[in-house]
Amino acid sequence: MKFYIKTFGCQMNFNDSERIKGILKSLGYEQARSYEEADIILLNTCTIREKPDQKVYSHLGEYKKVKEKNPKAIIGVCGCLAQRMGAELVNKAPVIDLMFSSFNIHQLPQLIQQAQAGYKAIAILEEPPEDEDKLWEYPTVRDNQYCAYVTVMKGCDKNCTYCVVPKTRGRQRSRSLQSILSEVKALVEDGVKEIHLLGQNVTAWGQDIGMHFADLLYEVAQVEGVQRIRFTTGHPKDMDERIAKAMGEIPTVCPHVHLPFQAGSNRILALMDRGYTKEEYLEKIQMLREYKKGITFSTDVIVGFPTETEEDFEHTLDLLEKVRFEQVFSFKFSPRPGTPAYSMEGQVPDDVKTQRMARLLNLQKKILSEIAKEYEGTIQEVLLESYENGKLVGRTLTNRWATLQGPEELLGKTVLVRVEKANPYNLECSLVSVLS
Ligand code: 5AD
Ligand code: SF4
Repeated sequence: MKFYIKTFGCQMNFNDSERIKGILKSLGYEQARSYEEADIILLNTCTIREKPDQKVYSHLGEYKKVKEKNPKAIIGVCGCLAQRMGAELVNKAPVIDLMFSSFNIHQLPQLIQQAQAGYKAIAILEEPPEDEDKLWEYPTVRDNQYCAYVTVMKGCDKNCTYCVVPKTRGRQRSRSLQSILSEVKALVEDGVKEIHLLGQNVTAWGQDIGMHFADLLYEVAQVEGVQRIRFTTGHPKDMDERIAKAMGEIPTVCPHVHLPFQAGSNRILALMDRGYTKEEYLEKIQMLREYKKGITFSTDVIVGFPTETEEDFEHTLDLLEKVRFEQVFSFKFSPRPGTPAYSMEGQVPDDVKTQRMARLLNLQKKILSEIAKEYEGTIQEVLLESYENGKLVGRTLTNRWATLQGPEELLGKTVLVRVEKANPYNLECSLVSVLS
């Protein structure tokens, strides 16, 4: 029996898929090379914007054909769109046999049994169940041998007015320190060098269990064999001095932070209910720069939030110029049903969003080519994590992709490289020495 999983959305969803693969393996399933040969096909969906919603329907249309050849094949949908739409999704796409939300992943074995018995197996809970922590008993199945995601919290207690996540993933639940550390230890024993702590809002980890995210950083750093620590996503409001200090004190925490600012205008930030101003955001950046030498930043930005004026948008551009992010993920505002911003007055026309987006991308392109130049000739530390098209590929401490010529045996090693040519999204490097 074989499974195939297609994943949309954020790293949280990818990590959920890695866990789902672990569950399926424990049930005796093997990974299929393509959906055509699978007995169970799962779509792990995202609903953060309208585009990912639409993609799901076109994929389901494709998968329907598999049933013609293999009538016993099970087609399942999970993740955030499944959570948001519930049974309505099955009405729209009757090809679905199995559906569960991110709260029910641990119930997958029973759901598969139901679907195999010919029932529509649907488990979309409104609230996370008591036994949700059972999920951590399953291992993850990962493609990357050396860098691993570890989910440290689920859900989000912020109420950004544009965002569906609090609805699809529920309130914030921090995973216990003990559970996180035992997974980290198991991963390191399995050869993992880099641990990437994940959560919708990791910087708020611990607030619901009387702990602080900085404690978690110190604890993970103590695990022998952890060579690099990263985390995503941080929220500026929770990014406090304790975290900055911990980042500075722990050498294995990488000098890179993904810190979404979403908008530069204080009026828009208030409408988004983000809980900080542009000036406060810049202060956080400054604080992090002071505590962590050489730190770089990436961010998320929304363009064309309701009522955004030209002047508001210029504050967004100004933030890009001031911070000089290494990577900017920019999105046109997409009204999500059930969120406050969906029905706000002053929706911005699409052509205005498109124009503003183009200006933002242009500015960022210019900044990125300047940043790239600064890398040329420098020595960088790279953890080699894959071998593609005859080249070793890895990331710098500052989260830039680097490629170099070298033997495949170096995979999993940390090396020093010299940057020969810096392209906006990739550093072409040569090997200087092998560190460990
Ligand atoms: N419209 C556009 N972008 C959004 N994001 C979240 N919700 C929306 C929305 N309704 C963006 C934010 C977030 C990223 C994951 O997606 O920038 O940080
Ligand atoms: Fe998409 Fe948000 Fe769900 Fe991630 S948490 S899959 S970004 S809707």
